[in-house]
Amino acid sequence: MNLKRFFFQLTLLFLPIFSAFSQQFTVDQRVADLLSKMTLDEKIGQLNQYNDDHTATGPVTLDSDKGGQIRNGQVGSLLNCLGTERTRKWQEIAMQSRLKIPLLFGQDVIHGYKTTFPIPLAESCSWDLEAMKLAARVAAVEASASGIHWTFAPMVDVARDPRWGRVMEGSGEDTYLGSLIAKARVQGFQGNKLGDLDAVMACAKHFAAYGAAIGGRDYNAVDMSDRMLWEVYLEPFKAAEEAGVATFMNAFNDINGIPATGHKHLQRDILKGQWGFTGFVVSDWGSIGEMINHGTVKDGYEAALSAITAGSDMDMESRNYKNHLAQLVKDGKVPVALIDDAVSRILRKKFELGLFDDPFRFSDPEREKKALNNPDHVRIAREVAAKSIVLLKNEGNILPISKSVKTIAFIGPLVKPLKQNKGFWDVEVPGVDSTFIVSQWEGLKNKIRPETKLIYAKGCAIEGTDKSGFAEAVEAAKQADVVIMSIGERRDMSGEAKSKAHIVIPGVQEELVKEILATGKPVVVMINAGRPLVFPFISKNVPAILYTWWLGSEAGNAIADVLFGDVNPSAKLTMSFPVSVGQIPIYYSHFNTGRPAYDDNNHNYNSSYLDESIFPKYEFGFGLSYTTFTYSNLKLDKKVMKTGESVQVSLQVTNSGKVAGEEIVQLYLRDKVGSIARPVKELKDFAKVKLAAGETKTITFTITEEKLAFYNSNLEKKAESGEFDVMIGASSRDIRLNDGFVLQ
Ligand code: NOJ
Repeated sequence: MNLKRFFFQLTLLFLPIFSAFSQQFTVDQRVADLLSKMTLDEKIGQLNQYNDDHTATGPVTLDSDKGGQIRNGQVGSLLNCLGTERTRKWQEIAMQSRLKIPLLFGQDVIHGYKTTFPIPLAESCSWDLEAMKLAARVAAVEASASGIHWTFAPMVDVARDPRWGRVMEGSGEDTYLGSLIAKARVQGFQGNKLGDLDAVMACAKHFAAYGAAIGGRDYNAVDMSDRMLWEVYLEPFKAAEEAGVATFMNAFNDINGIPATGHKHLQRDILKGQWGFTGFVVSDWGSIGEMINHGTVKDGYEAALSAITAGSDMDMESRNYKNHLAQLVKDGKVPVALIDDAVSRILRKKFELGLFDDPFRFSDPEREKKALNNPDHVRIAREVAAKSIVLLKNEGNILPISKSVKTIAFIGPLVKPLKQNKGFWDVEVPGVDSTFIVSQWEGLKNKIRPETKLIYAKGCAIEGTDKSGFAEAVEAAKQADVVIMSIGERRDMSGEAKSKAHIVIPGVQEELVKEILATGKPVVVMINAGRPLVFPFISKNVPAILYTWWLGSEAGNAIADVLFGDVNPSAKLTMSFPVSVGQIPIYYSHFNTGRPAYDDNNHNYNSSYLDESIFPKYEFGFGLSYTTFTYSNLKLDKKVMKTGESVQVSLQVTNSGKVAGEEIVQLYLRDKVGSIARPVKELKDFAKVKLAAGETKTITFTITEEKLAFYNSNLEKKAESGEFDVMIGASSRDIRLNDGFVLQ
């Protein structure tokens, strides 16, 4: 054993003693003590995050000697380094550095680790906050057992443009729902408290307004009013902060000309000032250096100055902190106090995670094995996946399919693939192959009776013009009592840098559907995608449509559960589906305009399209069930609400169909006259109710002043007196009950 190794082993031996000793001091005292021992170079080292070689999620900078830099205390964190073996290897090297400051391992654990959950947009359609929290919890349990300390999730960007590929990663278009989901996911990832072995740090991203990229083009500029920023885009970040999120990530975009990474007002004044955020901010991948391309700084030196001044604490991959911060301090441009603040924020999290007491506590192969093979996780993934499937159409009640059906044809390019079901932003866990994923074919086979005949035909590929498989598919359909088709995008067609001008079903898939329909057989089409797509032929002509998004590793089983009625679909869309791309951006909570739109051709000089409807094809909040629900008896406990009071809203919902089901009852409000214009409606509450056939339940909502408040032209959040409409809907368009009250 060489000398270095000997001392290293010795340190490990004494760790429990150090640990007991360290309990006597508060985290802040320990941070201050350590900071006082650090050289400027060691401090700057903590601010650098490097990519490991496992996967790359951006343009990589190659390092000839990453190990040497870690050993010298020049790196604070690695991303894309996963698995107990690999994380332990790098951590051992970090333990050879002078001050033995442990590395943080960050990873995009966006919708599951080994067990993959539906893409976040799909999951948001469940409107089931507990389910989303649980999905994040499972992801944290698995990731933390596999060496990960920190996930770059949740993405809480409001997204109203389906051309933007990253809509798949968020919670859709609505601020209120998005804020609740942000909170649920943060709580799920972080568990009871940081420092528990099954908790990972969450990261609210991308601060801010990344979802409003002009034209839906990823990384594009954002031009936005302050009111819009505060009212729509910042709220979910605020919710994440209030839920105790440990970190924030800033964004690639500029906002009104200022790159988010160098945005002092956002990061220092609002986040760390007004909101009192005590965690740290990581840049997005390379975004510090990319400010040169934005044209707000001329070189890396100025980029580093701009980012550190603005409050970006950690540099993901750009190397500009490493290359320029020391010089900036020497030149008197950056006070050491700024560096100390950034370092302290990062060290505090390392202490809170318990890494100074045991840097290897998340790298235990036995725990990893157990966590990655937990049957409960699989069960939960199946349940959450089934909750995320949206039933868009069910003419003639084709669905659910009877279990006594004799012959089923299962057709389409997405019937048999395994990995496609994981969607974008899945994690390639070392040593795990794809065989644990349940394909849609397997799922169906698991469900049907042995005597049911299942015929497969691919029909065509996802892309391309080849129709040579059509004849076989038509033949299969002709032999069947019912045809199920699985079509859609490839999983990497929605995600980062996956913007699209044509959000259609690729290739000849819609043509295949046309030919299959011509057989006259009952047809169910399932659309797999990461974003809302436009599919006019299918919407109009196919009797039954399920939007299955990307559902994760249990996709096949969950789909079969819904197809055969073991699970009654209950999901509702969280993003509007446009009729055509020309309607984008399209969202339900728009203003009325001075010349409100009419959806007909009988009105001139109004705010509609000459050649297109103003309504979406499928609106926010829309989704069907195998049963029906009726709404009645809306009551408000008062017609006049005084300051400090609340209004109790009650109504009854009845399951008027023949099977049990769940309904998402939505409460919308409209402030009729405001000091600035208010949206035609805003979601302010909802309830997901389970009802047996014939059952009636009473639902109560409480309208507080907080729910009536909005940002006025001075950016003060206040409720204004006046009339409010109360609308109870089964979707944002399907308003079933109306009333109103006055705020005095
Ligand atoms: C860039 C993405 O914008 C961000 O969301 C992600 O966390 C990082 N790459 C790391 O992969």
